[in-house]
Parts: sequence; structure tokens; C-alpha cells
Amino acid sequence: MINIRVLTIFPNIFESFLAYGNPARAIQMGLASVQPVDLRQFGDEPRRSTDDYPYGGGIGMIMKPEPIVRGIRSLEAYDVVTHKILLTPQGRKLKQEIVEELSHKSELLLICGRYEGIDERVRYFVNDEISVGDYVLSGGETAAMVLIDCIIRLVPGVLGSDSRIDGESFYNGLLEYPQYTRPRDFEDCQVPSVLLEGHHEKIRRWKRKMSLVKTMRNRPDLMKSITVDEEMEELLNEIESERLI
Ligand code: ADE
Repeated sequence: MINIRVLTIFPNIFESFLAYGNPARAIQMGLASVQPVDLRQFGDEPRRSTDDYPYGGGIGMIMKPEPIVRGIRSLEAYDVVTHKILLTPQGRKLKQEIVEELSHKSELLLICGRYEGIDERVRYFVNDEISVGDYVLSGGETAAMVLIDCIIRLVPGVLGSDSRIDGESFYNGLLEYPQYTRPRDFEDCQVPSVLLEGHHEKIRRWKRKMSLVKTMRNRPDLMKSITVDEEMEELLNEIESERLI
């Protein structure tokens, strides 16, 4: 069971996201709870404002520290450690390893920034800063949805028993092999014959080889971190001699 709270000025953004697919199923099964909370309720009177002009000048507005810290203090669980994450393009970049680490926590509090930035002092009140990628979103809400989605699907019991995460992209540091379904022939493109022949060992080897090919083509940066075993060495030689790259 994982309990995720989200501090945001747009709590309604999360409604349809939480109403479909894995997030909805996890919530319905009692394996996760996700509670978006309106930051405005912690805003400064008289207008419950949550932003102000930047010191030193510059464009746009900055999120004030007090409403966020009031929100953090009010939402933090009192009996267990709450892992508090600020979503920001300046955070550590999200990858499957981090998702796995976070999926073992029981209490998460996600803090979504908006406007042009967030007062730097908010960082003293969180445990973690996460970026979903090297690009700038309009706010942390879409990043929080990405994070919630990939965490929830790792909570035991959320994925159906016929879903396996051990062949998925990134599970072993490689991208997933290509997948096919019917028809066998689509617009003159055929399903690779090895997949139709039912030779399990050949299929396993082919999948591993294609994982390597795909990774070398699309994400050569990932190749630096893999451990090459004997079979992989053979596959890499085949890939080279068959000029698949
Ligand atoms: N807020 C704006 N851009 C972001 C990003 N790339 N990751 C997380 N939060 C963000």
C-alpha cells in the first residue's frame, strides 16, 4: 500500500488521470491512495496568494515559501516517514531505478511548482528533487502524473498476473525487443519468422539480440552501463557481422 499526496494549485488536473487504467485499478483495489490537495488553502490572506514577484527583478512570478511549507507540515504523516519530493527540472533525472526505489516507500508527498519558479528555501523542507526529463514543463503537475504512474504500476498486485515487468524496457538496462501481433503480413511488412516457429530457445535469443539492436540504434548511451556476458558477446558479434546497426 502506497499513500501519495500531491500539493498543487491545480488539483483537478489529476481527476481523469486517476480515473483510468492502472492508477484507477490500484486505488480501487486499495493498493494505493492518491490525494491531490489544493495549495491555495495554505495561501496567504487576504487572497490566498501562493506567488509573488522575484527579488532582484526578472520576469514572471515565484511561488512563495510559506504556503508550500504550511502545506508540507499539514500533509506530512505523523506516524511514518514521509518522503517529500519537489518536481523540478533541476532535480535528479527520473529513471526506472529511482522509480523502483520510490515504489517501496509508504508515504510520498509530491510538490508541484508552477509559474516561473519556486522560492529556493522550499528545497530545505523536502528530501528529494526529481525531474522527468531535460525539458521544461509549464508546471510540476504533468511530471507528478508521470511519477505516480510509473510508481503505481510497480506496487505488487497492481499489474495483472500476465503482465511481466522483467522483459520491459530498462528492466535489464536495455530497451525492450520488438513485439508483434496479428496480422502476419501488414502492408508488406512481415512478422519475423522466428516468432512463428515456436522454438523457445531461438525466440529467447532473438529477443535478446533485438533488444541490443534497438538499444544500440536508439539509446547508445545505455550501452555503457550494461554487463556483457558470453552470450551477449556472441550476439554483438552477430549484429556486427550482419550489419544490423
Ligand atoms: N517542472 C517543470 N519542468 C519539469 C520537469 N522537467 N520535471 C519535473 N518538474 C518540472
